[in-house]
Amino acid sequence: MCGIVGYVGERPCRDILFRGLRKLEYRGYDSAGMSIVTDSGVNSLHAVGNLDNLEALLDQLDGGGTVGIAHTRWATHGRPSVENAHPHTDCTGRFAIVLNGIVENYLGLRKTLLAEGHIFTSETDAEVVAHLIERSYGGSLQRAVVEAFQQMEGHFTLCAVAADEPDVLVGVRKETPLVAGIGEGEYFLASAVPAFLADTRAVIYPEDGDVVVVARDGVRVFDLDGKPLRRKVQTVDWDEEAAEKAGFETFMLKEIHEQPAALSDTMAERIGPDGGVVLEGLGLSAEDIRGLARVVIVACGTSSYAGLVGKYALERWARLPVEVEVASEFRYREPVLDADCLCIAISQSGETADTLAAMRMARAAGARVLAITNIVGSQATRETDGVLFTRAGLEIGVAATKTFLAQVLAVLLLALHFAEARGHMGLDEIRSCTDELKRIPGLLSRYLDSEAPAQVAEVARRYAGSGYFMCLGRRAGLPVAMEGALKLKEISYVPTEAYAAGEMKHGPIALLDAGSPVLVVATDSPVYDKLMSNVQEVIARGARVIAVASEGNDSLADVADEILYVPRTDEMLSPLLAVVPLQLFAYYVAQARGEKVDQPRNLAKTVTVE
Ligand code: G6P
Repeated sequence: MCGIVGYVGERPCRDILFRGLRKLEYRGYDSAGMSIVTDSGVNSLHAVGNLDNLEALLDQLDGGGTVGIAHTRWATHGRPSVENAHPHTDCTGRFAIVLNGIVENYLGLRKTLLAEGHIFTSETDAEVVAHLIERSYGGSLQRAVVEAFQQMEGHFTLCAVAADEPDVLVGVRKETPLVAGIGEGEYFLASAVPAFLADTRAVIYPEDGDVVVVARDGVRVFDLDGKPLRRKVQTVDWDEEAAEKAGFETFMLKEIHEQPAALSDTMAERIGPDGGVVLEGLGLSAEDIRGLARVVIVACGTSSYAGLVGKYALERWARLPVEVEVASEFRYREPVLDADCLCIAISQSGETADTLAAMRMARAAGARVLAITNIVGSQATRETDGVLFTRAGLEIGVAATKTFLAQVLAVLLLALHFAEARGHMGLDEIRSCTDELKRIPGLLSRYLDSEAPAQVAEVARRYAGSGYFMCLGRRAGLPVAMEGALKLKEISYVPTEAYAAGEMKHGPIALLDAGSPVLVVATDSPVYDKLMSNVQEVIARGARVIAVASEGNDSLADVADEILYVPRTDEMLSPLLAVVPLQLFAYYVAQARGEKVDQPRNLAKTVTVE
């Protein structure tokens, strides 16, 4: 869960690498470092804290070197410190490495290397790699990297440079991301495309176990035996602008405003001229869909709440039994899975370690696996029977927003597709849903361009000093309440609990007293009246009610202290609109409290460790 960038080319690389790190800062930001190969050997620099601290020291590094590696860290083994910051070097200082992921057998390797006389300077698992390369090196960095790789267990991407080979950078990956960028006379390796998007859009996505050798005359890919491999050069369609804030004060706010586009793009070509749903690449025929006995959805964090929307939609429309499982638990239980079961893995990054492990487990047990992900070429897309891509574009803010909406849309489309295949909905019914779905991007655009966000900001600022929030919802409103609570926790650090409103009286109601703010997802639903009874229970305790309601609902005026209206739509589609005021609410609470919303403490965007 760190960011790696490497460069080989004609230009001095220090500032190029640093700019790459800036683009990867969302992957981790507790320390950072850089190594540049120069005539005098490998020169390195490290700093604790975010990239500003490294930037302040950059002048200390030889600006002329044209080969180098850099790293921004999210600590796993060893606290954030200068010693533990990457790149790590061997005993001689001739080799430098950066690593993303975990070397699971590092303790054993470290013990052996210590016994052989190697001197360690950090507490990290990664440092063993530099010493393994030192031990194996016989004139070929490529060979030494392979030998190190073969002794390492776990999941990681590693990149290495050597003083004795000042024209070469070698990278290898195992179940974590690595992408190569092909520029004009210059080449890159990185954890993600934005690191080099300013310089090239031509990329190669290496496979697991590919050894990528970057030299001054190009990028070559080999297998572990040194046999050359052919890997396709692809063109990414993001431009650099897409990776910037485009005038918004934060990535998160920009991404909230990109949600209508995320929905339109994810919907594009998936609703046919007759109003039916057309999904390609699922790896499931209509017959397969009819043969399914049940569905298990595995995911983490925000993606699991999109999964919950999927459960409600699949049950209601396709009449399929669905369980939603947190991947980190699922993978270590003994779930009952078989060929009649479809496992749907939802992961915006497609790289979340627990979700990948859950997918592998489901496949091994004979279940079919369908991945829903936002990232083309991600690991999830390589270990699945089918893929449904969301098309939310690049999301930089650590707290997911537009990818959540795109996931919700994807599961709704999937549920409609399944409902038709299983004969539970006719084309007319499907068309009435897809007609309504097609309206949502426009409704959301109108909402975001209206006074509504400013009103949410004003309400949020009034409640920003609260020490606790509760979020309540029922049916389709429950995943919305859960996601709203997660946003508040993630970026404002205010303890927030989400509960099924009907369940609140069995415990959480004890938390409420005069003035406690309670956010209620009160958009139109068949259980609206039941929800209102729950709201009365809240009011009776003196709590303050902030309701998210459907436009035109006047009945709340006497009940709620604040009403955040959203456009009216069908209940099953309502999460696509109702979650937005909660995203904004969390955003403005965090802002009022002075928190850095794009880089919440202790979190990382892509969790490639379990
Ligand atoms: C991290 C992120 C969350 C995200 C979760 C799952 O915790 O901070 O925003 O929901 O990982 O990520 P995925 O990429 O699998 O959707």
